[in-house]
Amino acid sequence: MLIDPKTFDRFNMILTGVVVPRPIAFVSTRSTDGVVNLAPFSFFNAMAYNPPTVIFSSSRRAPGWQDKRKDTLTNIEETGEYVINVVVDDIAAAMNATAAEYPSDVSEFDIAGLTEAPSEMVKPPRVLESPVNMECRLVQVVNIGEQPHSHGIVIGEILRMHLRDDILYEGPNGLRIDHAALKPTGRLAGNMYCHTDDVYELVRPVYTPQEEQQAAD
Ligand SMILES: Cc1cc2nc3c(=O)[nH]c(=O)nc-3n(C[C@H](O)[C@H](O)[C@H](O)COP(=O)(O)O)c2cc1C
Repeated sequence: MLIDPKTFDRFNMILTGVVVPRPIAFVSTRSTDGVVNLAPFSFFNAMAYNPPTVIFSSSRRAPGWQDKRKDTLTNIEETGEYVINVVVDDIAAAMNATAAEYPSDVSEFDIAGLTEAPSEMVKPPRVLESPVNMECRLVQVVNIGEQPHSHGIVIGEILRMHLRDDILYEGPNGLRIDHAALKPTGRLAGNMYCHTDDVYELVRPVYTPQEEQQAAD
């Protein structure tokens, strides 16, 4: 099958079905009125080490609503601050509970039974139950597409990263993340998720000009 995304009905389900599994950014923000907001975004990844840069993407409009904008994007554009909390298996159900299009004055922390922990560099709180919290400052929002399908790609710099001690171990070359302890949740398409505990190692080959010479001999 060959698909032209411009004419294929519901290409979004195909795209989110093949770019898998995706990590989930659980993004906490605070509105200019002080209302705390929390929502999951699986169009999410790390993009650079220096400055440490992460991106996620939010559609501008809440699906099924004519005019409702997504609170996360509005809050970030208005305040320039947010926290990305990594979703792990222990909080996956709580994360899912926050994903309905609640009114702007509702705090999803309360809905999900999660705990607000103070941040150091930004106003929005961290999710205490998440073992990884990245305090971020907005660098730029890149707009993609036209209404009603437009997205804002949020590019941010990590100012502080909080890591729970039990997900760390001392490797031969310094601190590393213990993924068996972290248990990050993977997003597939629609309502499907995966665990990430079936791991294996592939040692990356190293190219040396000497090997090339020997192969030529
Ligand atoms: C696991 C998961 C991943 C999601 N990923 C995205 C995403 O990448 N981009 C997006 O716009 N919405 C995504 N959503 C939907 C938003 O979380 C949802 O629209 C939410 O209500 C937005 O909240 P807000 O208005 O408080 O920002 C996702 C939902 C779930 C459950």
